[in-house]
Amino acid sequence: MKILVIGSGGREHSLVWKLKKSPLVKEIYCAPGNGGISEICEIVNISSENLTAILNFCQDKKIDLVVVGPEMPLSLGITDLLEEKKIKVFGPNKKASLLEASKIFAKEFMEKYGIPTADFEVFNKENIDKAKDYALFLLKKDNFCVIKADGLCFGKGSFVIDNKETAFKVIEDLVRKETLGKAGEKIVIERYLSGYEASLIGITDSENLLIFLPSQDHKRLLDNDEGPNTGGMGAYSPLPFFTQDLLEKSRERIFKRLLFGLKEEKIEYCGIIYAGVMISNGEIFVLEFNVRFGDPETQVILPLLKSDLLENILLAKDKKLKGELEFYNKSCLCVVLASKGYPYQYEKGKKIELPKEVDENKNIIFHSGTEKRNNEFYTSGGRVLSVCGIGRDLKEAKDNAYSLIEDIYFEGMYFRRDIGKKGIEYYEKKDKTFSII
Ligand code: AMP
Ligand code: GLY
Repeated sequence: MKILVIGSGGREHSLVWKLKKSPLVKEIYCAPGNGGISEICEIVNISSENLTAILNFCQDKKIDLVVVGPEMPLSLGITDLLEEKKIKVFGPNKKASLLEASKIFAKEFMEKYGIPTADFEVFNKENIDKAKDYALFLLKKDNFCVIKADGLCFGKGSFVIDNKETAFKVIEDLVRKETLGKAGEKIVIERYLSGYEASLIGITDSENLLIFLPSQDHKRLLDNDEGPNTGGMGAYSPLPFFTQDLLEKSRERIFKRLLFGLKEEKIEYCGIIYAGVMISNGEIFVLEFNVRFGDPETQVILPLLKSDLLENILLAKDKKLKGELEFYNKSCLCVVLASKGYPYQYEKGKKIELPKEVDENKNIIFHSGTEKRNNEFYTSGGRVLSVCGIGRDLKEAKDNAYSLIEDIYFEGMYFRRDIGKKGIEYYEKKDKTFSII
């Protein structure tokens, strides 16, 4: 088969890496890709949002399957466009992508179909005073409230707030000043939930849904979950605290209800569905849906996947997904190495020193934002490398990741030193008290 992967980050590097393991693959391309991806497949200089150029490329090269990494092309309707031209795409259509592209659509869908989520209300310019009243009401009740822009904001549209002044400012900024443009014209204000976050990712063909191992992202820039939100500074999988009971609850209360709702709404869905969940007092609540693989979650999930990803994608396209995905009995932990300044304006063009050899049984380096020039790699993004460690358990995976980082350098390189800490703490406190179980 000839495959085109759309996207340019660590997620897409890991997707190409895993897809290539399938004997069904004959040729594989990635648009636009990055320096690291160019080492394992041909990269094509087309932006992931240039749908017409992607269509032309697929027709020229007679691509058999397009696998879409990021949300933007999905929400722009890449699947609808290519499928109209009879090109097979793995990724939901524009309507289904609203589950990620509109927080209001997602929350109302969850409410309608009984998927557990935080209580919420929706506001816009017309009822700003009511928005402030509701934020005050939640602040009084819980000491916190959460304000979310409706549209896609690359992870910058959700605000966890603990005081009236900031709540009012965020409401004014989003709705009246439109600081996030049209994305913030409408907002959701919701109840704050405390607990442990997890990312639950499934592959679905609308009829069946198979779940990958649960993982956990680290969204804040600094250790101990401090500092600004980022695209994700690291991840690990599986989660020692994600019990069988929680998995069953996720199947019954989230994914079964999701599939039921999609059917009721006559929305066809073939692709990846990602539920960002909060585990609060042993119960599970959906914070958000994404309609694609997570980044950096994919970098830890795919090295643990024993099943052939491409085979499952093709089964999904034929509505024949069945059984369960199979995984290696190991752990994987990924530390993101970022450029100085990230998540704000950051430096680029720094030469990267990498280890000469990497043992794939212990480590994989996925490139998130690099370019290759004269046989050398240079930084080209805020998140530069996703350094993965694989081990028999989380502790060994963590040690393997961090020891490889000692052999990597670029000027201004920054990374968190506490990836996996919550999972390791769970092991250590297992027989004592741990709040979520
Ligand atoms: P979202 O854009 O919905 O994924 O939210 C981004 C981040 O904000 C999440 O990963 C959580 O850390 C936090 N968050 C979102 N909603 C809530 C909530 N209702 N309660 C507590 N934290 C939340
Ligand atoms: N890691 C969070 C996301 O991909 O949205």
